[in-house]
Amino acid sequence: MYIVKQKVNGGEYYYLRKAVRNGKKVTSECVAYLGKTLEGAEMKKKEIEEKLLKQEGKGNVMAENQNNNNNEKTMVHKSLTIDELAIFCKRKGFVYPSGELYGGLGGFWDFGHLGVELKKNLKESWWKYHVYRDDLVGIDGSIITNPKVWEASGHVGSFVDVAVVCKKCKNKTKIDKHEVGKAKCDKCGGEFENKGEFNPMFVTQVGPVKDDSVKAYLRPETAQLIFADFKLIQENARMQLPFGIAQVGKSFRNEISPREFLFRSREFEQMEIEYFIEGGTSCPYMEETKGVNILVYDEHMQKAGKEAQFMDLHEAWKKGVIKTDWHAYWITQEYNWFLNLGCRAENFRIRQHCSDEKSHYAIDTWDLEYKFPMGWRELQGFANRGNFDLTQHQNYSKQSMEIMNKEQKKVLPHVVCEPSLGVERAFLVFLFEAYSQNEKGEVVLKLNPKLAPIKAAVFPIVKSEEYEAIAEKILKDLRKDWNIIYDKSGSIGRRYARNDEAGTPYCITIDDKSPSQKDITIRDRDTREQIRVKIIDLKETIRKLINGEIEFLHAGKRV
Ligand code: GAP
Repeated sequence: MYIVKQKVNGGEYYYLRKAVRNGKKVTSECVAYLGKTLEGAEMKKKEIEEKLLKQEGKGNVMAENQNNNNNEKTMVHKSLTIDELAIFCKRKGFVYPSGELYGGLGGFWDFGHLGVELKKNLKESWWKYHVYRDDLVGIDGSIITNPKVWEASGHVGSFVDVAVVCKKCKNKTKIDKHEVGKAKCDKCGGEFENKGEFNPMFVTQVGPVKDDSVKAYLRPETAQLIFADFKLIQENARMQLPFGIAQVGKSFRNEISPREFLFRSREFEQMEIEYFIEGGTSCPYMEETKGVNILVYDEHMQKAGKEAQFMDLHEAWKKGVIKTDWHAYWITQEYNWFLNLGCRAENFRIRQHCSDEKSHYAIDTWDLEYKFPMGWRELQGFANRGNFDLTQHQNYSKQSMEIMNKEQKKVLPHVVCEPSLGVERAFLVFLFEAYSQNEKGEVVLKLNPKLAPIKAAVFPIVKSEEYEAIAEKILKDLRKDWNIIYDKSGSIGRRYARNDEAGTPYCITIDDKSPSQKDITIRDRDTREQIRVKIIDLKETIRKLINGEIEFLHAGKRV
């Protein structure tokens, strides 16, 4: 099947057609109308192909099972392409192309009823893990700020990409300045034609009257207001070095070629920490890096054409592969956050930026990379920004950014490490890690319960006033704390399947014994085991299960 573009009354429309053999003749037949944009058309084509494959029963299931539980042996992790994930996300209500009604807009996405919950839970988990400690506080800066912030930060002058077009396949993309003349097209290997430098910051006008309005920018990173507000935050929160400031929020970049679903968007969210130290202070948390193994790919290995090597992060720092203790510590923290939420270690590695690819502010940068279906790609950056930003703001604002250290001496702190993670990239990682199929080929989204959009579904086994009254009481109670759904339509099997696909970890059933025994059953999504729990203990049991404080089969009487 193939896509064709047709012009009708000046408008362009995309159609899916297929070749049909009629005796000796091959003709073409229209299969479906695909909309007004090529991006939307490609997505719809994949949806149609997926549907047809399903009808023919040809799922490409890749078996890989790490669990010993009998029921889980029949559950397999499935590898998806990024486009297949996009289709799943649209079908289930995780993510839609933004404004699809009008053909969408490249690089912008809307999060649906499940996506918004997953994203919220992901950010909440990140915030609790990083910010609720003695040496961290958070802020929420504005998206548009005084444009001088961006002049001082170097974004107006130095935040540039080079736009290129492949001479062979016409693929439009961007490359870093250092890649000019070296980079080849990632689609066909062809040579690039240089279309010149461009600044990816979105520009807007602040003020209603054109003549008096101010040219301003939508922030391209959340980090900068942490630097601009640094003195206020440090004084008000009474922070003493070393300490960090975190921020989660939207960032905008006018990417020349947004692609690969959420991976490179024009509007996205970042979760960033600027960790400030007095130059040379050592990290007191290095014990935490011991025994933490990850694939390491430093500049030397890359230049020598060697493979990445598994290393203990503590050892990597001791041997000087990772130059600062703080860098090794923050990489450990971030890697552990993913592992604690159920990700597989073999899908992560860290890669050092080569000297010619570092950002304008960076002394040394490592990326935490993830093995996406399109290859190893940046998930999170860890830049050593030194005192570049505070020095710049000091010079531009003519105000001192120095603070007192413990000895009451004035110092200009250094950002020894800036862990900077894109919410949408983390969102993709959790979905890729969770996507599985059971023996019937049905999707089971094995998300960590803390991330799951819906924590539990409540079902009365049959429609009766008595059962429904119990269900409603349970719902009212659980909904005070979590997103819980009530599902009373279809067979129990169908209701389980619907919820497995949405990643709901627990299904609560009110059955014929519930009215007399005052208990219910809870079914676990991943093992399909069931336990009976007294209604009075239900909320506390669900809380412990979500927080991973109790094993499922120890939480009640096995059925
Ligand atoms: N403050 C440092 C900074 O912004 P970056 O490497 O440009 O550094 C940090 O971005 C992270 O933000 C990336 O590792 C990625 O997770 C996310 N990110 C950057 N550009 C993105 C885009 N266009 N779409 C989605 N996520 C993006």
